[in-house]
Amino acid sequence: MPRAVKKLFVKTYGCQMNQYDSDRLFEVMAEIGFESTDEMAKADVVVLNTCHIREKAAEKVYSDLGRIKLIRNKRLQKGEETTIVVAGCVAQAEGREILARAPVVNIVIGPQSFHRLPDYIFSAEQHKQRIVDTDFPTDLKFEHLPGRSIKKLSAFLTVQEGCDKFCTFCVVPYTRGGEYSRPLKEIVREAKELAQQGSKEITLLGQNVNAYHGANKKGQPVSLARLIKKIAKIDGLERIRYTTSHPNDMSTDLIEAHRDIEKLMPYLHLPFQSGSDKILKAMNRDHQIDKYLDILGRVRDVRPDIALSTDIIVGFPGETDQDFEATMQLVRDVKYAQAYSFTYSPRPGTTAASIEDQVEKHVASERLQQLQALLKEQQLEFNRAQIGKKLPVLLEKPGREPGQLVGRSPYLQLVHVIAPDEMRGQIVEVDIVDTTRNSLAGSLKRAQNKELA
Ligand code: 5AD
Ligand code: SF4
Repeated sequence: MPRAVKKLFVKTYGCQMNQYDSDRLFEVMAEIGFESTDEMAKADVVVLNTCHIREKAAEKVYSDLGRIKLIRNKRLQKGEETTIVVAGCVAQAEGREILARAPVVNIVIGPQSFHRLPDYIFSAEQHKQRIVDTDFPTDLKFEHLPGRSIKKLSAFLTVQEGCDKFCTFCVVPYTRGGEYSRPLKEIVREAKELAQQGSKEITLLGQNVNAYHGANKKGQPVSLARLIKKIAKIDGLERIRYTTSHPNDMSTDLIEAHRDIEKLMPYLHLPFQSGSDKILKAMNRDHQIDKYLDILGRVRDVRPDIALSTDIIVGFPGETDQDFEATMQLVRDVKYAQAYSFTYSPRPGTTAASIEDQVEKHVASERLQQLQALLKEQQLEFNRAQIGKKLPVLLEKPGREPGQLVGRSPYLQLVHVIAPDEMRGQIVEVDIVDTTRNSLAGSLKRAQNKELA
């Protein structure tokens, strides 16, 4: 087994699943004596945990590698070696090509193999080998990972990985493989470990989390709603969230869970991608807008205050002004608490990349600006509606101002509060007094005084 008391720097790109993977990577490396550092120049091992979802994210890795090379050379002058690792989805998609394009890289490791990183680092350091591992054994990865040791008030927990849906724009089925659900027992154990480390909130992750169907003790599939119910019984754990969902897997028991399970937060991220049925068909989304709206209606029936979030792509091949207007109209009708929106980015290997009718870049950018202006307005409106209300806030970390703590409301809004540091980790009732688009300002005093009165 390799031996080291060294420093590890990890930069995480992309989605929450990558953040989870980075947490697990820290835990794997801590087992062999590594400590984390925020300063790349001090790190013996630099890991870039990369994202391949859009071209911009993938290209960023190469520009970062240019900077890292300079840092590595400076360290070399001082006699210090640096092992440079490209991990995650770009590693999976480009594999060996990365070694050719970026000679500074020592190890390329896909998202399913990072439990093997300690051995690879040893080989790279001792034998000066360059290594590529882009295997796909998802089940093995989870089996080989150590217990949870990271302390996070709000933690991620991957319950499902990969995707079988093959939306025509998306690389995920290629980078993360087919859909895989972890067994129930394994997830409950991990959730308990997190709660023991002090986590108050857990977000269950999956590329298609609501398609979760992990096996119980008898080998029978269990739904996400059942999994949430089970996790909700864990002492100390106060809040549960899940992301990302697909409209076609939004089952009745999951909708009802939003009514019945108090610890399940009133927040739903349900991407619709485009408001035009024609474009949805070309995207192979396999659902129509009517169905999407029906689901939201049913969710709002059981949980009227639910905060809705979504993903939207504009400028998909063949998108006309009319199709785009349908997207705008859908947003106007639904009213989102927040949303992620992107211009379409053709990805190598995906079906949509070879469609001839690509939308011109400047048209897509104009559409995105228009959409984002509307979404901004809606977010501000959603936040404004909280003013004057009292919300339970999980206080997580110090804010920018002295004496300030920052936390999250049930609706995932950031809330700034003047509060003593001892209150970190508590869920406190906060009076919402002001808002910007991105956060709320709360007052603890008024909330507590009211309780005393
Ligand atoms: N171009 C633009 N956006 C994309 N997404 C996925 N693939 C692409 C692409 N090729 C967006 C989708 C998805 C989110 C994670 O990223 O909206 O839901
Ligand atoms: Fe990016 Fe998708 Fe990979 Fe997450 S799973 S890092 S979003 S490509």
